[in-house]
Amino acid sequence: MGYNLLKGKRGIIFGALDENSIAWKTALKVKEEGGIFTLTNAPIALRMGKINELAKTCNAEIIPADATSEQDLNTLFTRSMEILGGKLDFVLHSIGMSPNVRKNKDYGDLNYEWFLKTLDISGVSFHKVLQTAEKTDAMNEYGSIVALSYIAAQRVFPDYSDMAQAKAVLESIARSYGYRFAKLKKVRVNTISQSPTKTTAGVGISGFDAFFDYAQMMSPMGNATADDCAAFIAVMFSDLTRMITMQNLMHDGGFSSTGITQDLIDRLSK
Ligand SMILES: NC(=O)c1ccc[n+]([C@@H]2O[C@H](COP(=O)([O-])OP(=O)(O)OC[C@H]3O[C@@H](n4cnc5c(N)ncnc54)[C@H](O)[C@@H]3O)[C@@H](O)[C@H]2O)c1
Repeated sequence: MGYNLLKGKRGIIFGALDENSIAWKTALKVKEEGGIFTLTNAPIALRMGKINELAKTCNAEIIPADATSEQDLNTLFTRSMEILGGKLDFVLHSIGMSPNVRKNKDYGDLNYEWFLKTLDISGVSFHKVLQTAEKTDAMNEYGSIVALSYIAAQRVFPDYSDMAQAKAVLESIARSYGYRFAKLKKVRVNTISQSPTKTTAGVGISGFDAFFDYAQMMSPMGNATADDCAAFIAVMFSDLTRMITMQNLMHDGGFSSTGITQDLIDRLSK
């Protein structure tokens, strides 16, 4: 049962790959809250076909777009406004990929072409999304644009490799573009820094299970799930958060403010 938080609101949701994706859960939550949207992903991800199930459930159209392509993004924003019947109120950027992580390259032996690809797909693409939204004049006043980040932007998690730099870029773009969009059109731009979550992108990081369990023990509330994250995103898209912008919002069960927990002490004293 929803609260109609997003009744009458229109948007775009990037990054639903399968039912574990944070974007997938977000689409279901936004639908439950009364929002309408288009779904998008890279053409190669769409070939998997899973997203068709979600589109059917949500009564949403799918528009292919590689988030690194300005041309694809331009088509996506223009078509979305046509399909949904007006300007947009929300956009979710839920995109991450590192060829170096995928191919298990050591941090001291990175392939720099791939490093630039990591930055482009996982960081700079957020700027491209924001700039396209501005150039196509796609956003309504008090619209809300959210991207997903991870605490490796601030602290070292060695296996996160060059994704740490991409997330630092992403969070910085949210501040810089957030300033610009607030002044231009009162549009809000934020990142949400989410707990480790068992998704395709998550489990692709080597040692993921260990840092999932560690974060679970280090978070007084436990790890935030993808469903918890979807609910938070829905609130960030709603009119209840109209003055929140240019923030990196920790959604991590308290992990980022915790030095040590009794659970860890007990485990280490064994
Ligand atoms: N899973 C975690 O532990 C975790 C924690 C914190 C933040 N995040 C972030 O959450 C976001 C969503 O990831 P997820 O965990 O739901 O995993 P996921 O694998 O389900 O989603 C990642 C998505 O990025 C898409 N993508 C990759 N390259 C693209 C491109 N060029 N153009 C458009 N889309 C592209 C993929 O197709 C996929 O749908 C990512 O930004 C990720 O870094 C994840």
